[in-house]
Amino acid sequence: MLDPQAASLNAATRYCAVYGHPIAHSASPAMQNAGLAALGLNWRYLAFAVHPDRLREAIQGAKVMGFLGLNLTVPHKLLALDLVEELDQSARTWGAVNTIRFEGRDPQGQWRPLREWPDNTGITLRAQGFNTDADAILRSLRHDLAVEPAGTRVLLLGAGGAGRTAALKLASEAVHTLYLVNRTAAKAAAAAEEIRARFPHVQVATGYPAAGQTVDLLLNTTSVGLNPEDALPLDTRQFALARAGAVYDMIYRPAQTPLLQAARTAGCRTANGLGMLLYQGAAALQLWTGQNPPIEVMRDALHKHVDHG
Ligand code: ATR
Repeated sequence: MLDPQAASLNAATRYCAVYGHPIAHSASPAMQNAGLAALGLNWRYLAFAVHPDRLREAIQGAKVMGFLGLNLTVPHKLLALDLVEELDQSARTWGAVNTIRFEGRDPQGQWRPLREWPDNTGITLRAQGFNTDADAILRSLRHDLAVEPAGTRVLLLGAGGAGRTAALKLASEAVHTLYLVNRTAAKAAAAAEEIRARFPHVQVATGYPAAGQTVDLLLNTTSVGLNPEDALPLDTRQFALARAGAVYDMIYRPAQTPLLQAARTAGCRTANGLGMLLYQGAAALQLWTGQNPPIEVMRDALHKHVDHG
């Protein structure tokens, strides 16, 4: 069957894309194309498997081909810090780039998003890097779990890229105490050091809370739970889930990880990472289009994709 969207592709169609490695299971194209269609734009959002060795060339290629912007996912978010001409404050603050906007310089020397030029011939171009992940974590915690981090105690599992961003963002929101647990203890210790240096008012500990100590939020940022046979991402002998008020798992496929199932059974409020994916994508769409993103349309498309994709 002919895809009705594909039928309307023409020489005026503009493009955005996501680069990752691997990328085949990305839900971003479904979400972003629904958003673009709802805004009535003749734009499409594509997905490309780009090896990290080729990231520089792939960013340059999209720029000269008149792409409006890119999303970057694993393993590109840190590499891209050195591959764009300009870093927005968000990318500097959180130390990672998940969104690029291509821009051209007008005759007055102002950099403007490429959507403002029908064709980029003769225009000086640049890639500007942003981070929309950190704000998305907060937005999803508020919307999906009714968690307001200020003054709370949080147990954070994982100290990879996502864990570090989440820990820093929560610290910047003045959480009371952060407990950092990671398989590789040295990485949790390094994240704790960084938080102590940047947010000295936040209490940071590595390891589980002491016996009897409760937390307002348990946040899983590890990849444990992606596979159906995975164990729980924490040691429940050291921390029983009933000691957490709310549990957030950044994994969204499967929608119910073993952690979320166990947390529900223990009586915790729960949410998966779909909201985080939604809000980082909505913020990227806003940066590229300059318009308010159609959040509910994008949310529906994501749910459909994850449930049936
Ligand atoms: P992301 O950018 O998604 O955070 P990452 O930087 O590769 O990806 O981090 C993956 C996280 O999941 C890390 O905290 C990792 O622990 P290590 O730092 O010890 O590698 C965690 N993780 C992955 N597989 C794990 C496993 N089998 N058991 C426990 N933790 C695991």
